[in-house]
Amino acid sequence: MICQRPAASVQSPVIMLVLCIESSCDETAAAVVRDGREALSNVVASQVDVHARYGGVVPELASRKHVEAISVVINSALEEAGVALEQIEGIGVTRGPGLVGALLVGLSTAKAMAWSLDIPLAAVHHMEGHILAPLLEGTPEFPFLALAVSGGHTHLYRVDGIGQYRTIGQTLDDAAGEAYDKVAKLLGLGYPGGAKIDRLALQGDPEAIAFPRPMLHRPNYDFSFSGIKTAVLQYVEKCPNPIDERHMGDITASFQEAMVEVLTRKTLRAAADQHLERIVVAGGVACNSGLRKRFHELAGQNGVEVFFPSPSLCGDNAAMLGVPADYYLEHGQHADNKVNALSSWPLDMVGRAE
Ligand code: KG4
Ligand code: ZN
Repeated sequence: MICQRPAASVQSPVIMLVLCIESSCDETAAAVVRDGREALSNVVASQVDVHARYGGVVPELASRKHVEAISVVINSALEEAGVALEQIEGIGVTRGPGLVGALLVGLSTAKAMAWSLDIPLAAVHHMEGHILAPLLEGTPEFPFLALAVSGGHTHLYRVDGIGQYRTIGQTLDDAAGEAYDKVAKLLGLGYPGGAKIDRLALQGDPEAIAFPRPMLHRPNYDFSFSGIKTAVLQYVEKCPNPIDERHMGDITASFQEAMVEVLTRKTLRAAADQHLERIVVAGGVACNSGLRKRFHELAGQNGVEVFFPSPSLCGDNAAMLGVPADYYLEHGQHADNKVNALSSWPLDMVGRAE
């Protein structure tokens, strides 16, 4: 539950140091952020090794691992920032979307800390953190178009300011990161596979295999990736087993080419139609070298500027929450102690009454 007070009647103090906590999936993360623009620390404890042997995130295991890690991670974030707990003036935490058991670990910790330290709490949307992460590095100005590409999301948002988001398009089936992970799994590359495919693709020919480009020419901004994944599966089923190194390079490069073409072309068209000159690409898949390269190549030709967070701010982290958390704390948009975790939460609903 968000207590939204009218900004005009509130004289909130300027928040300087915010402790941020993120636990929506398989990373336990904490950060100290100054003035919503400078990450003094950004500590991430990944559970990836725990889940790798199951080929995906096991929710029950994720919750347990968050419980084990959270105090250590918070203490490390304070230590790295050189900040004492008593100096923290507000707390920002991911409220959703994500795995409820995992979210509850961060949220309960944040609520307990805010109550015991008698400081305000801001409940933040995970994707809001992702798409505002570039502001920790100084750019860009609003408004902009955000392409959020992660394991759970492939969304295009129009962003007019902090808390002002409108969904322009989204995936109708798999998220981009999910498609990367599923293709990696069927190629026997393990989980998570996005970065591995990215590396192997560098050695292959992106024109070698013509995988489909679903919905590329539809006059909307929605995506669909399950067809590309199925096409890779059908192709691989006909290949001699094991697949040799050169052939693996061609398959991964051709798959990546299909993903990159669909993501870049639809995003650039949405930006043009929305009359937006700035594009932010955020989330774990924003680490992808092919996507970064193509966006930078096409940006100039299309008269837009494209912004990617540094790789350490692309994947799940807590520093990214500092941008919205600081804003909400300063504007008196505090969460009360009854605030609950949300497994699904459209970004457009942020700040609206429940
Ligand atoms: O944002 P994130 O860390 O977590 C979620 O909120 O989902 O994104 C994780 C996703 C995974 O699917 C992972 O395979 C993908 O990001 N990923 C990549 C790359 N690095 C991470 N996908 C493609 N290329 C990469 N270099
Ligand atoms: Zn994420």
